[in-house]
Amino acid sequence: MKNKINNKITKCLFPAAGYGTRFLPATKAIPKEMLPVLTKPLLQYGVEEAIEAGLDTMAIVTGRGKRAIEDHFDRSYELEHQIDGTAKESLMTEIRDIVHACKFSYTRQLEMKGLGHAILTGQTLIGDEPFAVILADDLCDNNDKSVLSQMIELYEKYPNKCIVAIEEVPKQDTNKYGVIAGSEIENNLYQVNNMVEKPDPKDALSNLAIIGRYILIPEIFDVIKETKPGKGGEIQITDALLTLAKQGKVLAYKFTGRRFDCGSIDGFVEATNYFYGKEK
Ligand code: UTP
Repeated sequence: MKNKINNKITKCLFPAAGYGTRFLPATKAIPKEMLPVLTKPLLQYGVEEAIEAGLDTMAIVTGRGKRAIEDHFDRSYELEHQIDGTAKESLMTEIRDIVHACKFSYTRQLEMKGLGHAILTGQTLIGDEPFAVILADDLCDNNDKSVLSQMIELYEKYPNKCIVAIEEVPKQDTNKYGVIAGSEIENNLYQVNNMVEKPDPKDALSNLAIIGRYILIPEIFDVIKETKPGKGGEIQITDALLTLAKQGKVLAYKFTGRRFDCGSIDGFVEATNYFYGKEK
């Protein structure tokens, strides 16, 4: 049954089933999403961003070898017992509060067939309502309002549209991203009319690259089911979104803030230095 409440976004999907091959051997037994920037795993930054945006249900798509994620977002009685009442207790405050503040649910992607496929795998956790997606390896920071909060606000203004976060990248890097073309309908907001996954720089539609923050409408699930494998033989969310873009249902938002590609070594080191500098 559809009702008004279902139009409010409360759930955030975290596709976290990828192999993280760029970080091998570190990711042989540790999920990429659990690699820490300073003392916090990437996924915790993502969950904090979702909470800040007002969401309370975290739906995580995991895979084999990713159990550390579930353990992280759970109580740890033995550890808590050991440090309760000591000077170290405060180190656990943030994660404890998160565990109590949100609901976590998990499902496993059996075969890593791409981001589109991972999002479809999450359908069972999301149901028939609009939802946010955070790729935890894109670490975002903004002092005032998080990137996802900015997008949720936009969704309230443009309900029933998908919104992808974009940033300008050097033209030679377009082959690492989904790239959009569109018309600017208000400052930093584009109506998307075309999008291509990882285009050759010489063929790129623009240098406006999609980063790992999305607001999606439930219609996306049926579209993904019909989407054929694309670049790299994977089911690409960009290809599915193109179908909706052609129906005028996709906006792209040039967000305010910084974003680090922590799926790459360079981005990871940059993020570490940035957050270290911020904490000092
Ligand atoms: P990436 O392509 O950056 O992650 O996917 P990867 O495949 O783990 O990384 P490398 O290239 O091997 O180092 C972006 C996000 O989508 C998830 C990943 O976990 C990551 O958070 N993903 C990707 C899935 O959940 N399932 C997939 O089949 C593919």
